[in-house]
Amino acid sequence: MISTPSSPAAPFARRVRSFVRRAGRLTPAQARALEVLGPGRLLPGEGDPLVLDEVFDRAAPRVLEIGFGDGEALVAMARRLPDVDFLGLEVHEPGVGHLLLRLEAEGLGNVRLICHDAAEVIERRLPNAAFAAINIFFPDPWPKKRHHKRRLVQPPLIASLARRQPAGGLLHLATDWVPYAEHMAEVLAASPDYHPIGASEAAAEPLAWRPETKFERRGLRLGHEVRDLYYRKTETETGQ
Ligand SMILES: C[S@@+](CC[C@H](N)C(=O)[O-])C[C@H]1O[C@@H](n2cnc3c(N)ncnc32)[C@H](O)[C@@H]1O
Repeated sequence: MISTPSSPAAPFARRVRSFVRRAGRLTPAQARALEVLGPGRLLPGEGDPLVLDEVFDRAAPRVLEIGFGDGEALVAMARRLPDVDFLGLEVHEPGVGHLLLRLEAEGLGNVRLICHDAAEVIERRLPNAAFAAINIFFPDPWPKKRHHKRRLVQPPLIASLARRQPAGGLLHLATDWVPYAEHMAEVLAASPDYHPIGASEAAAEPLAWRPETKFERRGLRLGHEVRDLYYRKTETETGQ
């Protein structure tokens, strides 16, 4: 069953969340998708660390996407890279239902989803060094200064993500809000775990490709500038 983002979680109780639950209603088709298509594709937000070879029933390179929205980008990537496994995290149930319907319609077996606060899932359920790439596309910009603390990209999250990637792993961030891109660059510049790579190096990486997203289209309609930031996990003395 879906665990709700408001489930009590002692160590995270005072953490500022990067989302507010939106009132968006599930369509009947989405509700049915959660019930009927969820088992097998939708994993609980709480529980022991996942064994990903069991979850995907194979060993393969893996990509994590945080805040996939309606999941259209995740569908396009999973279709393009059938030999790669994708794990998507999203708190908005209608988006999860929508994506389950698309995965079923396209017969894509290389995607699993969790409907729960990503910060909790990453810390509690995701194994170390498991993801060749991590994507955060157009996270909520929280433009007002008093809301900046709600931004998803913060030093503790980046440190937590770094533990889930092997040395050389890719981190791909995108936003249509330039002040957030600047904030992301500052957070990553202060991280000992990642170093930036240029667009040309990223272009040579199949895992760094992304399609246009729904939220990006909205930003472009509003005349916003879109920025992609690419990083690679830095090798440490232990080789991790
Ligand atoms: C602005 S939307 C962008 C959606 C999509 N990536 C796109 O580009 O169209 C940000 C999404 O992140 C989700 N989100 C925000 N904080 C989250 C968290 N802590 N865990 C999981 N999802 C989160 C929101 O529910 C929302 O759907």
